Amino acid sequence: MWSLARALLFLFPAEEAHEVGKVLMRLLAALLPAPRKIQNNPIGLAAGFDKNADLLDILPKFGFGHAEIGTVTPRPQGGNPRPRLFRNPNDRTIFNRMGFNNLGAGIISERVRRIRPRLPEGFKLGINLGKNKDTPDTLAAEDYAAAARPFLDLADYFVINVSSPNTPGLRALQSPSALLPILKRVRSEIADAGKSIPVWVKLAPELTGTGLRELIEALDQGGVAGFILTNTQGGVYIDEGQELPGGWSGQNLTGLSRERLNEVRTYTSLPLISVGGIMTADEAIERLKSGASEIQIYSGFVYEGPFLVRRILKALRNQG
Ligand SMILES: Cc1cc2nc3c(=O)[nH]c(=O)nc-3n(C[C@H](O)[C@H](O)[C@H](O)COP(=O)(O)O)c2cc1C
Repeated sequence: MWSLARALLFLFPAEEAHEVGKVLMRLLAALLPAPRKIQNNPIGLAAGFDKNADLLDILPKFGFGHAEIGTVTPRPQGGNPRPRLFRNPNDRTIFNRMGFNNLGAGIISERVRRIRPRLPEGFKLGINLGKNKDTPDTLAAEDYAAAARPFLDLADYFVINVSSPNTPGLRALQSPSALLPILKRVRSEIADAGKSIPVWVKLAPELTGTGLRELIEALDQGGVAGFILTNTQGGVYIDEGQELPGGWSGQNLTGLSRERLNEVRTYTSLPLISVGGIMTADEAIERLKSGASEIQIYSGFVYEGPFLVRRILKALRNQG
């Protein structure tokens, strides 16, 4: 069934296919039972799939135990010009240079506020935070705090995303001197509201060695809740002879993301969420065995279909 649906979906250009896919998910969801309670479920939907919380209400039906909405920026923004999303089905990869297109923290938080009471008990809602493209790096911390503000009574966790390759200069924020003030600012926004919401940091797969260790240790000291490893791998896509910069997801990331998990595991005992190239139940189990407390999926959902999550859950149950 999924091969047929996928063949039809892949007739559309990638971004349109994503929109049609969302409609199909809603139709399918009408046939699926709604779980009342989420128990021992380490599988989440990775950021970027449901940027605007369009699908949040139905995600638990597909077996997810958590979902990361966003990236959400303080103000709405359109993202990069199209085309900005491409598939490479032979390699099972996705290339994107979306550029944080989203409706902005205000509108998205209103949607989340309406949906939140209907989510099953135990379902965790993450909000992935970003800065607007036109905000200078010197004011980045203010943007992350402003994006978090309308979600202070809604989010189960926040993620500081400084690892997208599609906002100019963003990845340069992956240093202790740039990232610690952002972490501190978001944490004080939470504390000032009398809340205690964990703040995670999502990192790029290219960071490795001493630089990565120093960053992890500094953030650990700075009160980070854990790390999400990894975002997309920076690269270029050749579209009609034109080189477009962006990031690769999917099978190309399987080895790299697994390596980063193993590496960071030696630097910290904080929880780690592993994401990147998890296309099979075996790979999901491998990541959890390697010390990930949770995993997230994006490309696997596109290439393997909406029942991948249930297959992983079943494999986990069979493991005992
Ligand atoms: C089209 C697209 C958009 C994405 N947008 C975001 C985003 O807004 N924020 C973010 O943190 N990650 C974003 N990601 C990265 C994913 O969350 C994930 O880290 C990456 O795709 C690796 O996982 P995968 O191999 O399972 O796809 C995006 C990925 C894709 C393919």
